[in-house]
Formats: sequence, structure tokens, C-alpha cells
Amino acid sequence: MSANASYPPGPDGVPVVGNTFALSRDIFEFYERLREEYGPIASYRVFGTDACMVAHPDAVRRVLLDDHDAFVKGDVLTRNLEDAMGEGLFVTEGEQWRQQRTRVQPSFYRERLNTYVPEMRATARETVEEWRDGAVVEANEAMTATTMKVLGRTLFGVDVTDEPVVADASAAILARFDTSRFWSFLPDTVPTPTNRRYRRELDRLREFVDELAARRRAQSPAERGDDLLSTLVGFVEASDLSREEFRDNMITFLFAGHETTALGLTYALLCLARNPDEQTRLREEVDSVCEGAVEADHLPELERTGRAIDEALRLYPPVYMFFREAARDVELGGYEIPAGTTLVLPQWVVHRDAAWWDDPATFRPERFAGDADRPEYAHFPFGGGPRHCIGMRFARMEMKTVLATILRDYRFELVSAAEPELVASSNLKPGEPIELRIHERG
Ligand code: HEM
Repeated sequence: MSANASYPPGPDGVPVVGNTFALSRDIFEFYERLREEYGPIASYRVFGTDACMVAHPDAVRRVLLDDHDAFVKGDVLTRNLEDAMGEGLFVTEGEQWRQQRTRVQPSFYRERLNTYVPEMRATARETVEEWRDGAVVEANEAMTATTMKVLGRTLFGVDVTDEPVVADASAAILARFDTSRFWSFLPDTVPTPTNRRYRRELDRLREFVDELAARRRAQSPAERGDDLLSTLVGFVEASDLSREEFRDNMITFLFAGHETTALGLTYALLCLARNPDEQTRLREEVDSVCEGAVEADHLPELERTGRAIDEALRLYPPVYMFFREAARDVELGGYEIPAGTTLVLPQWVVHRDAAWWDDPATFRPERFAGDADRPEYAHFPFGGGPRHCIGMRFARMEMKTVLATILRDYRFELVSAAEPELVASSNLKPGEPIELRIHERG
């Protein structure tokens, strides 16, 4: 560390935030004010923890990519998630993480993912076939049901709609991460009704994933196929994965994979409902690229659709911030970051910073056309570096397939608020329904 490096500036002493944030705008205002007053790398204290916001793309890149080995996911994350998925890919560190990542990576190769597109399309079709001309649809509910089914069918070979335990556990686990809990950063020791229900549902979910594994083990290799469940079961049989690692990874993939993607789709629909001309242009693209059904081969050609998704993920990043902890003293952007400091990397702040984005609040997908003159990490909805989202390609393929399937058959307009209230919970969620009126194409 250089002799002159200093700790990042920030408000002194007493905590500058209360211990609950009712709405996301409170959190976002806090970080945006911190950036305005102290710059993109700024310090603060919250509940006795020394924390530092990292909101400059070059510093984000240093943390996630160039100097990634100086950082761990850290206490804040572990405390919140260790019960449910402490031995899974999202939380583990070091050699254990590296081995798990290497083992599951082939399940996310492009060729493998291409084989999921027919299932993604069929599931999207089931959703739109329930819609009627002139009906009002709540986007988040419809997209959550769709992504949950896609995940279950493609990665685990189960129809989760037939398994109420998954929906019940999902509700109980997500309830535990409501806004105030998530931001309280406190360990889960208090036996509140929410926490009791959480424990009960987590136990049921573990029994369920064990049962799924038992059903697979009873099948012949030919019957088993090679989805993610079979891959994980195979590793347990070869003693390359413990039973805890198996369970925690099943739960990791169930939870990391569906709410985020559903939110990405919901916000893309919101943006397109607010921008009917762009919606028309996407529909023209889908009509010209996809004759008949949407196929895996079509997806790379749906370029405009891809840019609209990127732009929706910029404005409304489902993962709106995440954490790291300095494992040793490091220098970052000329500042000294002591070992043990919690870092917050806020996509929301960087994605809406006028330093990198003209007119940042406006939906303008053409920003992503051609070579843009901005740092790579000005847009990081899927994180970056070795721990970037392993499901990124899966999510992008699914979002394109579902959007294209909807656009082929329907026009939609917004019935609810143009700028819905947002809730900064475990993910960035709408705090009120996002209602679309659906019109069949004539
Ligand atoms: C739009 C949808 C999604 C978004 C915005 C998203 C976002 C992210 C982000 C930001 C991270 C990095 C977190 C960190 O570095 O601390 C991450 C990691 C991860 N994501 Fe996603 N994700 C999405 C979809 C998915 C899907 C579909 C899956 C699985 C099927 C998935 C599984 C994971 C896993 C397992 C990790 C941990 C990877 C590791 O640490 O090696 N995600 N995701």
C-alpha cells in the first residue's frame, strides 16, 4: 500500500442511516448522495460495520476482475445465506468454490443451453395461451410463474407447479429477506413467526431435493439424461460432492435462477409498454427473424431484442447491489481499504450515473449498439470476473425466448403507474402491481 493512500472520505461518526429502509428510494438516495458529496468511492458506517461504496466502473472492475483474489463474498452475505445455501456455489470460497464451479460449468455451455430453448418456448406459450384479448395481466406474477416452471423443467426435470413445497418454501424464504430484514444484516436467531416458518419450509425443501435425488438414483443412466440434477447426483455418487453441497446447490439454483430472471422480464415488459414504438420495432424484428416458432438459432439474430433487454437491466437491475469484503489491505482508486472492510457495489448507482450514460433515466436501447465509449463495468447486471453469474447466458436466452413469444402474439400497454414504486429487498422488486393490457395482434 502506498505511503500516502488514505481511507475513502465519507460522513463521520454516527450512523447516517436508520436501520430500516421502507422503500428503495431511501437506499438509492443514500448512495446517490454519498457519491455526490464524497465521490464514487466513499465510506460510511452502518450498525458498527465499516463499509465502503464502490461506484466507479474502473474500481468495480478491479474488485471483481483484476484484484478479485483480494476480496471474498464476506460476512454480510454469509450471515444471511449460510443456513439455506452456505455450502453452495453462491456462497463458498476458495478451492471448494473453484471445484464446484468447474463441475457445474458444462451444464451452462451454449450447446447445452440451446437444447433448453424448446422448453422455454413451450412454457412461454402456456403462459400466453391463458391470456385473452383485452385482458389485464400482472407482469411480475405471470413472469415469476413462467421462469419457475422453466427452471424446474430444464434443470431438474420436474414440474414445480405440481410440487407446492417449492412455491411454499420460495414464499417463506423470500419473506425472510423482506426489505427491513435484509438490511438489518442481523443473524437469524430470533424465533419470530417468519423465522420459524422459514426453518420449517427450508427443512421441507431439503427433504424434497433429497427425494428428487433418490428418484434419479433409481433410474438407469439412459433414463437419467444429463440435466443439472443428474450432473449433481453423479458427483455425489462419485464422492465429488457432499450431501450438504448437493442440497445447498439445488437450493442455490432454485433461488438464484428464477426471481432474478422474472424481474428482468417484468422490467423489460414495463419499458416496452411505455415505449410502444420500440415495441413495434421489436415485433418487426421477431417477425422477420423467426418464421414459425422461436428457435435457438434465431436468438443471436434478435439483436434489437437483446439491446432492449440490456437497457431494461441497466435501468432496473434485478440485483441492484452486492457485497464483497477485503480479505487483506488493498488500494483502490488511490484509497486505502483495510482488511475486513465491507464493500458495496451498487449497480443501481453506476447504471444511472450521468458520467457514463446520457440522459440516464431514459430507456434508449440503441446505447448498446456498436462500440460505446464507456468503461466496460459501467453496466454489470450479472456481476463480473470469475464469480460472474453462471446463469447469465441461460437468463438471456430465456428472456429473449419469452419476450419473442409474447411479441409474436400480443401488443401490450401499461395500465398501472409508469414509474412503479420499487422495493429494495433481496432483489429489486416492484412494490405495486405492473399491469399490462393485452391485445391480440389482428
Ligand atoms: C436476469 C437474471 C439474473 C441476474 C440479474 C443475475 C445476477 C447475478 C449476479 C449479479 C451475480 C454475482 C453476485 C456476486 O458476485 O456476488 C450472480 C451470481 C450467480 N447467479 Fe445469477 N443472475 C441471474 C440469473 C441467474 C440464473 C438463471 C441462474 C441459474 C440458473 C443464476 C445463478 C447464479 C449463481 C449460481 C451465481 C453464483 C456464481 C458464483 O459465485 O460462482 N443466476 N447472478
